[in-house]
Amino acid sequence: MTHLPQWLAAETDDRNLAGAIVSMAAASAEIAAILRAAPIEGQTGLAGATNVQGEAQKALDVISNDIVLKHLRANPAISILVSEELDEAVEMSSQGTVIVATDPLDGSSNLDVNVTVGTIFSILPTHGGVLQKGEAQLAAGYVAYGPATSLVVRIKGATSVFTLAQDGQWRLNLAEAKVPAASGEFAINTARERFWDAATRNYVSENIAGETGAAGKRYNMRWVGSMVADIHRILMRGGIFLYPLDSETVGKGGRLRLLYEANPMAWLMAGAGGKSTTGRQDILTVEPTDIHQRVPVIMGSADEVQRVENWYAKA
Ligand code: AHG
Ligand code: MN
Ligand code: MN
Repeated sequence: MTHLPQWLAAETDDRNLAGAIVSMAAASAEIAAILRAAPIEGQTGLAGATNVQGEAQKALDVISNDIVLKHLRANPAISILVSEELDEAVEMSSQGTVIVATDPLDGSSNLDVNVTVGTIFSILPTHGGVLQKGEAQLAAGYVAYGPATSLVVRIKGATSVFTLAQDGQWRLNLAEAKVPAASGEFAINTARERFWDAATRNYVSENIAGETGAAGKRYNMRWVGSMVADIHRILMRGGIFLYPLDSETVGKGGRLRLLYEANPMAWLMAGAGGKSTTGRQDILTVEPTDIHQRVPVIMGSADEVQRVENWYAKA
């Protein structure tokens, strides 16, 4: 069975890139071990601090960020770290050839109810600086801390899935994830309906109408509230995830962050045959102007994303 180091050796000659992925995998294995016992340690509550975006930080947000920081500092391949939990980009090694942007703990509001959370990362070439389009990524990945701890990673080829085994090794269990083009599952926070734009409203209405409406088939809805968990489901069996621009988030540009949430997930979708859009533009072509920039996110099965884009084109 293939382990992560063998897969990396086959995917790239760039040892710094491979090393950065190994560091993120090692940090995630350490985070997984802490999450497993967090309720016993009383670590699922608030840290009492707020991050740069004014959101409450969980104790584990801070702990996870510190673990990632420790692993990346020990790796001279890393030039700069951008993290959801750090106001500014952090300079690391002057010889580093790769930048890492990370959401060290995604979905942390789900921690106190023992629902899947994750770590997301994006890897960029140092020469382009921290503000590069998603299409410039060298690699991206996430780790989902669910019943199994899964590492989903892509360099240039297919999106591959590894599972953390008892012996601490990451074993390949799916070489090529494939997002089916058609699906009957959608994921959106419907409690936000009153803020939605016409395109989102029209698309979701068609889905809810099911076989009696224009979509002509029945849909089911799923919303975990951890992007990693929702995207993992979609990568494994299809569907669509929407966190569109709405009248409440319009001033901020959206809800989810471009550099360390939207771009890495869009890169992984692309490797599995899925599509990603803001509604009007491929996410991977969005020009970043700020490290914590937000962006509308619509991604998943190609036919479903196309239907949303069609509504945006009509709007
Ligand atoms: P984070 O925990 O890193 O702040 O991210 C939470 C994000 C994402 O995981 C999820 O899809 C979304 O917030 C959920 O938003 P709602 O609370 O509006 O459902
Ligand atoms: Mn997040
Ligand atoms: Mn987070």
